[in-house]
Formats: sequence, C-alpha cells, structure tokens
Amino acid sequence: MTDQLVPRIQLNDGLSIPQLGFGVFKVDPGETERIVSDALEIGYRHLDTARIYGNEEGVGRAIAASGIPRQELYITTKLWNDDQGDAATVQAAFDASLERLGLDYVDLYLIHWPTPARDRYVETWRAFEQLRDSARTRSIGVSNFLAHHLERLIGETGVVPAVDQIELHPYHQQPETAAFAEQQGIAIEAWGPLGQGKYPLFEIPEVTAAATAHGVTPAQVVIRWHLQRGHIVFPKSNRRERMAENFDVFGFELTNDEVAAITGLEREGRVSAHPDEVD
Ligand SMILES: NC(=O)c1ccc[n+]([C@@H]2O[C@H](COP(=O)([O-])OP(=O)(O)OC[C@H]3O[C@@H](n4cnc5c(N)ncnc54)[C@H](OP(=O)(O)O)[C@@H]3O)[C@@H](O)[C@H]2O)c1
Repeated sequence: MTDQLVPRIQLNDGLSIPQLGFGVFKVDPGETERIVSDALEIGYRHLDTARIYGNEEGVGRAIAASGIPRQELYITTKLWNDDQGDAATVQAAFDASLERLGLDYVDLYLIHWPTPARDRYVETWRAFEQLRDSARTRSIGVSNFLAHHLERLIGETGVVPAVDQIELHPYHQQPETAAFAEQQGIAIEAWGPLGQGKYPLFEIPEVTAAATAHGVTPAQVVIRWHLQRGHIVFPKSNRRERMAENFDVFGFELTNDEVAAITGLEREGRVSAHPDEVD
C-alpha cells in the first residue's frame, strides 16, 4: 500500500490535500512518536494534530525520524481557543506549534473552534490571512464552524476558508453546514469519521450488509462512504493493524444504493458539545 493511491482534493486556494490521513486526537504524547511512525510506515502522508492534543512534539519526532521528504507530507495543526486574538497573539501560538513540530511550515492551519462567547474569530481570521501570506502555512481553514459562523467570517473579511473540519459520521452529517460549505467551495474535513467508537456504527445492517457484499470490514465501509461523499478523513487508531485496515480502502467501491442507505442513517447524534457552546 502506498500513498499514491490516495486521491487529492482540490482546495479553493489552488492547493490540494490528500483525502485520507491519520488523526492523533487522544494519542498519548508519550506514545505519539511510535504511533505516528507506524502510520507513516503503512503509507499515511497526511497527519492531523492540534496544540490542544499535547502531542505536536511526538508528531514532529516521527516526521524527522521517517526521512520522508517534507514535500511528500501534509501536516495540519490548529490554534486553540485561548490563543484567539490579535495578530501578535496568533503569531506567537503559531510559532510555538511550528517549533514543537520541528517544521518551518505547515500545510494547513485551522481555528479549532469558533468559541462565539469570546467573539474573536473574525479578528483571529485576519491574523490567519497574514500567516498564509508569509507562506509558513500554505492553506488556512476553520474547524467546528457552523453555517452562520462561516457566513459571518466570509461576510466581514471576504476570505473564504479552504476547509471546515467538522464532526461528521453517518449519525451526524451536519447537512446545513455541509451544503453551505459546498456552495462556498469550502472542502469538508470529517472529524470523528468512525463516530469515535461511541455509536454502534459497525453493527448497523446498512453497514454490515455492504461489508459482507464487498468482503471488507464495517470500518472500511464507513471510511469508503466518507471518501465517496467527498469528505477528507483522518481516522485515528493506536493499533497498527487497524491503521492498515483504515488505509486499505481503495480496492472496492460502494454502490450508489449503499452510499444512499448509509447517508440515510443521519440522526443528529453528535459526540461533542455544540459549537455555539464550546468556549
Ligand atoms: N477539530 C476537532 O474539533 C476534532 C475533534 C475530534 C477529532 N478531530 C480529528 O479527527 C481525527 C479522527 O477523529 P477521532 O480520533 O475523534 O475519532 P474516530 O477516528 O472516529 O474514531 C477513533 C476510535 O475508533 C477506533 N477505531 C479506529 N479504527 C478502527 C477500526 N478499524 N475498527 C474498530 N475501531 C476502530 C479507535 O480505537 P483504537 O485507537 O483503539 O484503535 C478510536 O477509539 C482525530 O484524531 C483528530 O485528528 C478533530
């Protein structure tokens, strides 16, 4: 298995992103280097981390140890809520993330949550534009922004995020935000693509029937559903065999009916707090 099989999604800023990657939320900092090294060995080239995960150093050590040329990797990190603010505040947080990662640029930098109670995301976004202009982040985007946050951000700055990284899995598909993003040319990154294991996604008949039909696992069906819906995904696993399973999703294709049946599972079953309430 190599990264050559992973399609790239075109972004609205002219750049592109590998559609399948590896996420490290809740990966223990002490284990991150080993786990990310395993993921890189399997073939993943797109890594998704964040300051708040506390494991940027481990991601950086695995990258350095891999010897993989930097231009073959796609690295995302995120600005945490208490670092939102003016250009100097954002710049300092960004510099600290780069230093922990041991990189001189990232491919994508995201505002992690809108945190409307702070009311600083528009100001923060203007600082993101400056970071992108400095080329130390190639693309800029947001995370957990609902349609009304995106509308305000775009309305006040005229700058459209390249991506919106939102909770998205068969039980929580955020159709309103996804439709608004599509209309604006914003790519959707689906976090919690497997529902974080909090729902019995792998036992639902619509998923197990497709798994049996294609001779694959339910997790592979769910990842394949995301890919065929056009989402960018980076499932997390601490286990090497599951990392390999989650990457091995290019040898089969779901039928339109199978995709539609899984899309029909929507039930507003979120795993996180509502983005208007997170501070
Ligand atoms: N922007 C945000 O606010 C935000 C929030 C959450 C996550 N994220 C990003 O999205 C990434 C993915 O989301 P996530 O980590 O929350 O959840 P996820 O990928 O939906 O689910 C991870 C869970 O599924 C299990 N799992 C993985 N592969 C499996 C398989 N093949 N079969 C059975 N179980 C499997 C993992 O267990 P094991 O580890 O034991 O295998 C883990 O418990 C994160 O790592 C992070 O990069 C972003």
